[in-house]
Amino acid sequence: MDSLKSEQNELMQTIFAIRHLNLYYGKKQALHDINVDLYEHCVTALIGPSGCGKSTFLRCLNRMNDLIDDCKIDGQILYHGTDIQSVNPILLRTKVGMVFQQPNPFPMSIYDNICYGPRCQGIHNRTHLNELVERSLREAALWDEVKDRLKTNGMALSGGQQQRLCIARALAMSPEVLLMDEPTSALDPISTKKIEELVMSLKERYTIVIVTHNLQQVARIADYTSFFLLGDLVETNKTETLFSRPSNEKTERYITGRFG
Ligand SMILES: Nc1ncnc2c1ncn2[C@@H]1O[C@H](COP(=O)(O)OP(=O)(O)O)[C@@H](O)[C@H]1O
Ligand SMILES: [Mg+2]
Repeated sequence: MDSLKSEQNELMQTIFAIRHLNLYYGKKQALHDINVDLYEHCVTALIGPSGCGKSTFLRCLNRMNDLIDDCKIDGQILYHGTDIQSVNPILLRTKVGMVFQQPNPFPMSIYDNICYGPRCQGIHNRTHLNELVERSLREAALWDEVKDRLKTNGMALSGGQQQRLCIARALAMSPEVLLMDEPTSALDPISTKKIEELVMSLKERYTIVIVTHNLQQVARIADYTSFFLLGDLVETNKTETLFSRPSNEKTERYITGRFG
Protein backbone atom coordinates (compact mmCIF):
# COMPACT_ATOMS: atom_id res chain seq x y z
CA MET A 1 0.00 0.00 0.00
CA ASP A 2 2.74 2.45 0.95
CA SER A 3 4.71 1.61 -2.17
CA LEU A 4 1.59 2.23 -4.22
CA LYS A 5 1.21 5.62 -2.56
CA SER A 6 4.81 6.62 -3.20
CA GLU A 7 4.42 5.55 -6.82
CA GLN A 8 1.43 7.85 -7.09
CA ASN A 9 3.53 10.63 -5.60
CA GLU A 10 6.17 10.18 -8.23
CA LEU A 11 3.60 10.52 -10.97
CA MET A 12 2.49 13.90 -9.73
CA GLN A 13 3.47 16.74 -11.99
CA THR A 14 4.17 20.19 -10.64
CA ILE A 15 2.12 22.78 -12.51
CA PHE A 16 2.99 25.82 -10.39
CA ALA A 17 6.27 26.19 -8.53
CA ILE A 18 6.30 29.23 -6.25
CA ARG A 19 9.73 30.35 -5.12
CA HIS A 20 10.49 33.04 -2.54
CA LEU A 21 7.34 34.96 -3.34
CA ASN A 22 6.93 38.23 -1.44
CA LEU A 23 4.03 40.58 -2.11
CA TYR A 24 3.56 44.17 -0.98
CA TYR A 25 0.55 46.46 -1.08
CA GLY A 26 2.40 49.76 -0.94
CA LYS A 27 4.64 49.45 2.09
CA LYS A 28 2.59 46.71 3.69
CA GLN A 29 3.91 43.20 3.09
CA ALA A 30 1.02 40.76 2.59
CA LEU A 31 2.93 37.60 1.62
CA HIS A 32 6.25 36.54 3.12
CA ASP A 33 8.67 34.25 1.30
CA ILE A 34 6.11 31.74 0.01
CA ASN A 35 7.53 28.49 -1.35
CA VAL A 36 5.23 25.76 -2.56
CA ASP A 37 4.56 23.40 -5.46
CA LEU A 38 1.03 22.88 -6.74
CA TYR A 39 0.32 19.62 -8.53
CA GLU A 40 -1.56 18.97 -11.72
CA HIS A 41 -4.99 17.31 -11.49
CA CYS A 42 -5.14 17.88 -7.77
CA VAL A 43 -7.42 19.99 -5.66
CA THR A 44 -5.35 22.22 -3.39
CA ALA A 45 -7.19 24.07 -0.63
CA LEU A 46 -5.93 27.32 0.87
CA ILE A 47 -7.07 27.82 4.45
CA GLY A 48 -6.41 30.28 7.24
CA PRO A 49 -8.06 33.14 9.13
CA SER A 50 -9.44 36.18 7.29
CA GLY A 51 -6.81 38.60 6.11
CA CYS A 52 -3.97 36.07 6.09
CA GLY A 53 -3.32 36.39 2.34
CA LYS A 54 -5.26 33.53 0.73
CA SER A 55 -6.97 35.66 -1.91
CA THR A 56 -3.79 37.62 -2.46
CA PHE A 57 -1.88 34.40 -3.11
CA LEU A 58 -4.62 33.06 -5.39
CA ARG A 59 -4.58 36.27 -7.44
CA CYS A 60 -0.82 35.94 -7.90
CA LEU A 61 -1.32 32.73 -9.87
CA ASN A 62 -3.01 34.45 -12.81
CA ARG A 63 -1.56 37.90 -12.28
CA MET A 64 -4.82 39.46 -11.18
CA ASN A 65 -2.78 41.50 -8.70
CA ASP A 66 -1.31 43.34 -11.70
CA LEU A 67 -4.63 45.17 -11.79
CA ILE A 68 -4.14 46.52 -8.25
CA ASP A 69 -2.26 49.82 -8.03
CA ASP A 70 0.70 49.78 -5.73
CA CYS A 71 0.92 45.99 -5.62
CA LYS A 72 4.45 44.67 -6.10
CA ILE A 73 5.82 41.16 -6.01
CA ASP A 74 9.27 39.66 -6.00
CA GLY A 75 10.32 36.05 -6.25
CA GLN A 76 9.18 33.62 -8.90
CA ILE A 77 5.98 31.92 -9.94
CA LEU A 78 6.79 29.21 -12.45
CA TYR A 79 3.93 27.83 -14.52
CA HIS A 80 5.06 24.69 -16.33
CA GLY A 81 8.55 25.93 -15.57
CA THR A 82 8.08 29.40 -17.13
CA ASP A 83 8.08 32.54 -15.01
CA ILE A 84 4.58 33.99 -15.40
CA GLN A 85 6.01 37.51 -15.44
CA SER A 86 7.22 36.71 -18.95
CA VAL A 87 3.80 35.44 -20.11
CA ASN A 88 1.12 37.69 -21.63
CA PRO A 89 -1.31 38.12 -18.69
CA ILE A 90 -4.38 37.89 -20.93
CA LEU A 91 -3.18 34.57 -22.29
CA LEU A 92 -2.23 33.39 -18.80
CA ARG A 93 -5.77 34.14 -17.57
CA THR A 94 -7.30 32.00 -20.32
CA LYS A 95 -5.18 29.10 -19.04
CA VAL A 96 -5.67 29.96 -15.37
CA GLY A 97 -9.33 30.88 -14.93
CA MET A 98 -11.00 32.29 -11.86
CA VAL A 99 -14.31 31.89 -10.03
CA PHE A 100 -15.27 34.30 -7.25
CA GLN A 101 -17.23 34.17 -4.01
CA GLN A 102 -20.22 36.07 -5.35
CA PRO A 103 -21.50 34.47 -8.55
CA ASN A 104 -21.01 37.17 -11.20
CA PRO A 105 -22.76 36.18 -14.42
CA PHE A 106 -22.81 38.88 -17.08
CA PRO A 107 -26.24 40.53 -17.57
CA MET A 108 -26.95 38.59 -20.75
CA SER A 109 -28.33 35.20 -21.76
CA ILE A 110 -26.94 31.92 -20.45
CA TYR A 111 -25.75 31.18 -24.00
CA ASP A 112 -24.00 34.53 -24.38
CA ASN A 113 -22.37 34.24 -20.97
CA ILE A 114 -20.57 31.11 -22.15
CA CYS A 115 -19.73 32.53 -25.58
CA TYR A 116 -18.42 35.85 -24.32
CA GLY A 117 -14.79 34.80 -23.91
CA PRO A 118 -14.58 32.59 -27.01
CA ARG A 119 -16.14 35.39 -29.14
CA CYS A 120 -13.51 37.82 -27.81
CA GLN A 121 -10.97 35.31 -29.06
CA GLY A 122 -12.54 35.43 -32.53
CA ILE A 123 -14.72 32.32 -32.45
CA HIS A 124 -18.00 33.18 -34.21
CA ASN A 125 -18.93 29.95 -35.98
CA ARG A 126 -22.44 29.09 -34.78
CA THR A 127 -21.96 25.31 -34.76
CA HIS A 128 -18.68 25.62 -32.91
CA LEU A 129 -20.23 27.96 -30.32
CA ASN A 130 -23.25 25.67 -29.87
CA GLU A 131 -20.92 22.77 -29.17
CA LEU A 132 -18.85 24.83 -26.78
CA VAL A 133 -21.95 25.95 -24.87
CA GLU A 134 -23.24 22.42 -24.49
CA ARG A 135 -19.87 20.96 -23.52
CA SER A 136 -19.12 23.68 -20.96
CA LEU A 137 -22.57 23.48 -19.38
CA ARG A 138 -22.38 19.70 -19.23
CA GLU A 139 -18.97 19.86 -17.60
CA ALA A 140 -20.31 22.33 -15.06
CA ALA A 141 -23.26 20.00 -14.32
CA LEU A 142 -25.76 22.66 -15.42
CA TRP A 143 -26.83 21.51 -18.88
CA ASP A 144 -29.87 19.48 -17.86
CA GLU A 145 -31.23 22.36 -15.81
CA VAL A 146 -30.91 25.03 -18.51
CA LYS A 147 -30.82 23.33 -21.92
CA ASP A 148 -34.38 24.42 -22.71
CA ARG A 149 -33.84 28.05 -21.77
CA LEU A 150 -30.42 29.07 -23.03
CA LYS A 151 -31.82 32.49 -24.00
CA THR A 152 -32.81 33.24 -20.39
CA ASN A 153 -30.77 35.90 -18.65
CA GLY A 154 -28.01 34.35 -16.53
CA MET A 155 -28.92 36.65 -13.66
CA ALA A 156 -32.33 34.96 -13.43
CA LEU A 157 -30.81 31.66 -12.26
CA SER A 158 -30.55 30.66 -8.59
CA GLY A 159 -27.32 31.47 -6.76
CA GLY A 160 -25.99 27.92 -7.08
CA GLN A 161 -26.89 27.79 -10.78
CA GLN A 162 -25.24 31.17 -11.33
CA GLN A 163 -22.06 29.86 -9.74
CA ARG A 164 -22.09 26.80 -12.02
CA LEU A 165 -22.71 29.15 -14.96
CA CYS A 166 -19.59 31.08 -13.93
CA ILE A 167 -17.66 27.82 -13.78
CA ALA A 168 -18.99 26.87 -17.24
CA ARG A 169 -17.97 30.30 -18.53
CA ALA A 170 -14.44 29.72 -17.23
CA LEU A 171 -14.34 26.21 -18.73
CA ALA A 172 -15.36 27.55 -22.16
CA MET A 173 -11.90 29.13 -22.37
CA SER A 174 -10.30 25.66 -22.13
CA PRO A 175 -8.27 26.50 -19.05
CA GLU A 176 -5.85 24.15 -17.33
CA VAL A 177 -6.30 25.61 -13.89
CA LEU A 178 -9.34 26.92 -12.05
CA LEU A 179 -8.81 29.30 -9.15
CA MET A 180 -11.83 29.42 -6.85
CA ASP A 181 -12.08 32.03 -4.11
CA GLU A 182 -14.65 30.87 -1.54
CA PRO A 183 -16.98 29.69 -4.32
CA THR A 184 -19.57 28.22 -1.97
CA SER A 185 -19.64 30.69 0.90
CA ALA A 186 -22.63 32.56 -0.59
CA LEU A 187 -24.52 29.32 -1.32
CA ASP A 188 -26.99 27.10 0.53
CA PRO A 189 -25.93 23.56 1.59
CA ILE A 190 -27.49 21.79 -1.40
CA SER A 191 -25.88 24.13 -3.94
CA THR A 192 -22.63 23.79 -1.99
CA LYS A 193 -22.78 20.01 -2.26
CA LYS A 194 -23.29 20.28 -6.03
CA ILE A 195 -20.26 22.53 -6.39
CA GLU A 196 -18.18 20.14 -4.26
CA GLU A 197 -19.17 17.20 -6.44
CA LEU A 198 -18.40 19.29 -9.48
CA VAL A 199 -14.94 20.20 -8.19
CA MET A 200 -14.14 16.54 -7.59
CA SER A 201 -15.25 15.61 -11.10
CA LEU A 202 -13.34 18.50 -12.69
CA LYS A 203 -9.97 17.55 -11.25
CA GLU A 204 -9.68 14.74 -13.77
CA ARG A 205 -9.24 17.37 -16.46
CA TYR A 206 -8.22 20.47 -14.54
CA THR A 207 -6.08 21.58 -11.65
CA ILE A 208 -8.04 23.33 -8.93
CA VAL A 209 -6.91 25.76 -6.25
CA ILE A 210 -9.69 26.67 -3.87
CA VAL A 211 -9.93 29.06 -0.93
CA THR A 212 -12.46 27.98 1.66
CA HIS A 213 -13.26 28.55 5.31
CA ASN A 214 -15.14 25.30 5.54
CA LEU A 215 -12.73 22.74 6.98
CA GLN A 216 -15.17 19.87 6.45
CA GLN A 217 -15.31 20.87 2.82
CA VAL A 218 -11.51 20.81 2.69
CA ALA A 219 -11.47 17.29 4.14
CA ARG A 220 -14.06 16.19 1.57
CA ILE A 221 -12.56 17.61 -1.59
CA ALA A 222 -8.92 18.66 -1.26
CA ASP A 223 -5.93 16.42 -2.01
CA TYR A 224 -3.52 19.00 -0.60
CA THR A 225 -4.01 21.81 1.87
CA SER A 226 -1.94 24.91 2.55
CA PHE A 227 -2.38 26.76 5.82
CA PHE A 228 -1.72 30.51 5.74
CA LEU A 229 -1.29 32.74 8.77
CA LEU A 230 -0.50 36.48 8.71
CA GLY A 231 0.97 36.30 5.22
CA ASP A 232 3.10 33.23 5.93
CA LEU A 233 2.52 29.84 4.41
CA VAL A 234 2.84 27.81 7.58
CA GLU A 235 2.39 24.32 6.19
CA THR A 236 1.40 22.46 3.04
CA ASN A 237 0.59 18.81 3.28
CA LYS A 238 -1.64 16.08 1.99
CA THR A 239 -5.02 17.01 3.43
CA GLU A 240 -5.28 13.78 5.38
CA THR A 241 -1.87 14.33 6.95
CA LEU A 242 -2.48 17.99 7.66
CA PHE A 243 -5.64 17.14 9.57
CA SER A 244 -4.39 14.03 11.36
CA ARG A 245 -0.71 14.81 11.92
CA PRO A 246 -0.02 18.50 11.25
CA SER A 247 3.69 19.21 11.35
CA ASN A 248 3.28 22.71 12.77
CA GLU A 249 1.74 23.57 16.10
CA LYS A 250 0.03 26.65 14.60
CA THR A 251 -1.70 24.43 12.04
CA GLU A 252 -2.87 22.15 14.80
CA ARG A 253 -4.27 25.07 16.79
CA TYR A 254 -6.17 26.33 13.74
CA ILE A 255 -7.69 23.05 12.65
CA THR A 256 -8.76 22.18 16.16
CA GLY A 257 -10.42 25.58 16.47
CA ARG A 258 -8.17 26.71 19.29
CA PHE A 259 -6.97 29.88 17.59
CA GLY A 260 -7.46 32.97 19.75
N1 LIG B 1 -6.15 45.62 -2.78
C1 LIG B 1 -5.56 45.68 -1.59
N2 LIG B 1 -4.87 46.79 -1.20
C2 LIG B 1 -4.27 46.85 0.01
N3 LIG B 1 -4.26 45.84 0.91
C3 LIG B 1 -4.90 44.72 0.58
C4 LIG B 1 -5.59 44.57 -0.68
N4 LIG B 1 -6.15 43.34 -0.72
C5 LIG B 1 -5.83 42.75 0.44
N5 LIG B 1 -5.09 43.56 1.22
C6 LIG B 1 -4.55 43.25 2.56
O1 LIG B 1 -3.71 42.12 2.44
C7 LIG B 1 -3.92 41.21 3.51
C8 LIG B 1 -4.37 39.85 2.96
O2 LIG B 1 -5.67 40.01 2.41
P1 LIG B 1 -6.41 38.84 1.63
O3 LIG B 1 -5.48 38.24 0.66
O4 LIG B 1 -7.67 39.41 1.10
O5 LIG B 1 -6.70 37.81 2.81
P2 LIG B 1 -7.72 36.57 2.87
O6 LIG B 1 -8.18 36.27 1.49
O7 LIG B 1 -6.91 35.47 3.49
O8 LIG B 1 -8.83 36.99 3.78
C9 LIG B 1 -4.93 41.87 4.42
O9 LIG B 1 -4.24 42.55 5.42
C10 LIG B 1 -5.64 42.84 3.52
O10 LIG B 1 -6.13 43.94 4.24
MG1 LIG C 1 -10.12 36.28 0.69
